[in-house]
Amino acid sequence: MTHEDFPTDDPAVVTAGLPYANGDLHVGHLRSYVNADVFTRGLRKLGQQAVYVCGSDMHGTPIAVEAAKEGVSPEEFALRHHEQYQETFPEFNVDFDQYGHTHDETNTELTREFVRAWEANGYVHEKEIDVAYDPEADQWLPDRFVEGTCPYCGEHARGDECDEGCQRHLEPGEIEDPVSTITGNPAEYRKREHKFLRLSDLQEHLQGFINRMEGTSNAKHQPLEWIEGDLQDLCITRDMDWGIDYPGEGAEDLVLYVWVDAPIEYVSATKQYCERTGDFDWESVWKDGDGEVVHVIGRDIIQHHTVYWPAMLEAADYAEPRAVCAVGFVNIDGKGLSTSKNRAIWAREYLDEGLHPDLLRYYMATASGFERDVNFSWERFAQRVNSELADVVGNFVYRALLFASRNFGGTPDAAVSDEVETEIAQAMDDYEDALNDYDLRSAGERAVALARFGNEYIQHNEPWKLDDDEAAPVIRDCVQLVKAVAVLLQPFTPEKADEAYRQLGEPDTAADATVGDCLQAPPAEFGEPEELFEKVEDERVAELDEALQAKIEAASSDEGDDGDVSEESDVELEPLADERVSFEDFQELDIRVGEVVAAEGIEGADDLARLEVDIGHEVRQVVAGIKQLHDLDALPGTRVVVVANLEQAELFGVESNGMVLAAGEDADLLTTHGDSEPGTKVK
Ligand code: 2FM
Ligand code: ZN
Repeated sequence: MTHEDFPTDDPAVVTAGLPYANGDLHVGHLRSYVNADVFTRGLRKLGQQAVYVCGSDMHGTPIAVEAAKEGVSPEEFALRHHEQYQETFPEFNVDFDQYGHTHDETNTELTREFVRAWEANGYVHEKEIDVAYDPEADQWLPDRFVEGTCPYCGEHARGDECDEGCQRHLEPGEIEDPVSTITGNPAEYRKREHKFLRLSDLQEHLQGFINRMEGTSNAKHQPLEWIEGDLQDLCITRDMDWGIDYPGEGAEDLVLYVWVDAPIEYVSATKQYCERTGDFDWESVWKDGDGEVVHVIGRDIIQHHTVYWPAMLEAADYAEPRAVCAVGFVNIDGKGLSTSKNRAIWAREYLDEGLHPDLLRYYMATASGFERDVNFSWERFAQRVNSELADVVGNFVYRALLFASRNFGGTPDAAVSDEVETEIAQAMDDYEDALNDYDLRSAGERAVALARFGNEYIQHNEPWKLDDDEAAPVIRDCVQLVKAVAVLLQPFTPEKADEAYRQLGEPDTAADATVGDCLQAPPAEFGEPEELFEKVEDERVAELDEALQAKIEAASSDEGDDGDVSEESDVELEPLADERVSFEDFQELDIRVGEVVAAEGIEGADDLARLEVDIGHEVRQVVAGIKQLHDLDALPGTRVVVVANLEQAELFGVESNGMVLAAGEDADLLTTHGDSEPGTKVK
């Protein structure tokens, strides 16, 4: 099944994974919330009715453990963080239409309704299982109260997730060598009755759903492996006090697993929004499927959103989501953020530096593809802000509006040229396509490319050398381009786009505009503009970087491990080669820019993939050892660097006609920084 392109006639509900109400927000969190916010605003630009809902995740052991450390009740602890999040998100222009929490009445009631529906539909059964127990503390050890070894990959893991290894969800009783996090003692396994959701009965439905759903390629492909084998039923109860009480019979002393009531908050928040505004009927979206539900999540919770959540929906007779978009992590210095080691850039810290939130939004939404990890550095942040927002967008808007206001008092009385109209129309189409592909990076870059076109246009036409009659059509074009850039950039930099709109004398805000407004004439009168974007100066970058380096060093000298580190790696550098090669020898290598056209694994070979790479003159078949290291389905379209005159070889019966260059053990593929066409020689 293919979905109708956005905009559709039904409302879209965009959700972001709920933050656990147990800590301060940092740039790693912000990436998901900003991206979902940009996507929602982008949908509205296309004329799609769209609401953005989320809430704080109040239950579960992450909260119970932290509250216990502070000696306060989980409710008090979670509510404090919930209120803090409610204040912080708007400071980054993350503008939820509804932000609730999982402990409120709506969610408590709706969660119970879901469970009752599962029971009525025959999807719940009871089973005796092994549950970790701490005899000294005389306590059951659900989820984060126990740690041990992942049975799938052998890495150190938490009770319910292999957070440092394969990222799988772990069921109670699965973790090996269990240790209590309360006393540090080895835990025992004791028998206990728990309630289960029959995922095994939903396997076929889930397979179909994963084929039907849209979203990022990691979200579409990773679940295929989980869903192929026999699906284990999901334990939906826990031995805890903090949570939503199990509503059915025979489990009065159990609460629901946090991953039951957490995603139901997506529905509860929609319900609260609809009851408050009367905009649409929440049940028609969630139950009848007359809506476009898009989940934006971190890439660590793909399994919950592509397997467990759709199963929960189906078992309660709810409709399935349209898309799941899994956002990559933010790393610092190549390593995962660590809240306890303070290897993080905190939301508050960023704002206290006086940096504008729109700058971080733009960087977070366009620094890399949605699903790829971003290695945050102040230098790269400043480089993107300075070279794209300040030099291209800000410079163009300022030049065009200054010339227009000084010479014409606003928009000159002239028609937009065919050339500029076509360019803007093309940008609108590309933008719409990018959003339909869940590709925020391309959408943002398209807006900047339009401003770049504007700068070149003004430079080429030199209106300052023309008399007013000749300059009028050129400036008319430029003013239209400014408006179009402001509209298209608004989802990324909402405050700055509104500012550009004000400078254009527009009576409404850029938030109210849709892509169609890109071609509507701006007002005839407006005054002199002010610069939109300030550059982040080198000295500032050096200061910010120094502070960050100090944190990184302090974090590395801290031997402890808080478990939220991802992708830790100490790369051992190979020694540099002693022997030099002559320039002539180097020139014998014919190295070309290529673009991957197709990629597939080679059957029977663990590591090898067959690539078809466009190297300008022809499409080459190349074998590369990247099968396990890259998402092959995501590779087409990627620019790579190819040694084109390497002698032919045959690997696993497949002919290889060149070599794709890649760095290190992870086969980090070399690519181009600019727009070099396939076939361009690398020298
Ligand atoms: O992993 C987490 O941080 C969870 N709090 C996400 C919950 S998302 C959803 F399904 F509710
Ligand atoms: Zn694992």
